[in-house]
Amino acid sequence: MKLITHETKIAVYQAEEIPEEYLQLIEEAKNQTKKSYAPYSTFCVGAAVLLETGVIVKGNNQENSAYPSGLCAERVAMFYANSQYPDVAPTVVVIAAFTGGEFLSEPITPCGACRQVLLETEQRYDKPIKIILYGTEKTFILDNVRQLLPLCFEKSSLKLDTEKMST
Ligand code: THU
Repeated sequence: MKLITHETKIAVYQAEEIPEEYLQLIEEAKNQTKKSYAPYSTFCVGAAVLLETGVIVKGNNQENSAYPSGLCAERVAMFYANSQYPDVAPTVVVIAAFTGGEFLSEPITPCGACRQVLLETEQRYDKPIKIILYGTEKTFILDNVRQLLPLCFEKSSLKLDTEKMST
């Protein structure tokens, strides 16, 4: 038997330490929580995706009385980015959550399904996507999506015969 260990590198910032270049994007994600549709959980999540062209795509969680039909903020934003800017790589994603009248002090981290979707995008454009998880006391910054999803299931896991495929 041998043990395999996975390490995740997370940079933890206090509010005043957050790099200036991310402040606007964080504000956009925070503002998005105000437009979230979350009557069931009252957990309002906002996401902002920066594309390599400088365009910012935004989204928020959209819930449904048939619960699984809803969608997380980061998937709303990322699917919109991928659908409307298919030739442009996303480079940064920010996620912020507001509940009980305040932003969370510790950041929320994306659910498993969102990690899978973010990973597909990172691999699709073959460029690392920085993940910024906002909290009022601590903000986490990860260098890429892969950090969030060790032992991932990915395109290569399918062992497709790519020569037979058109795309
Ligand atoms: N949610 C997100 O939008 N993003 C996350 O990273 C975690 C959870 C949403 C889904 C649901 O609308 C609410 O938060 C409670 O789970």
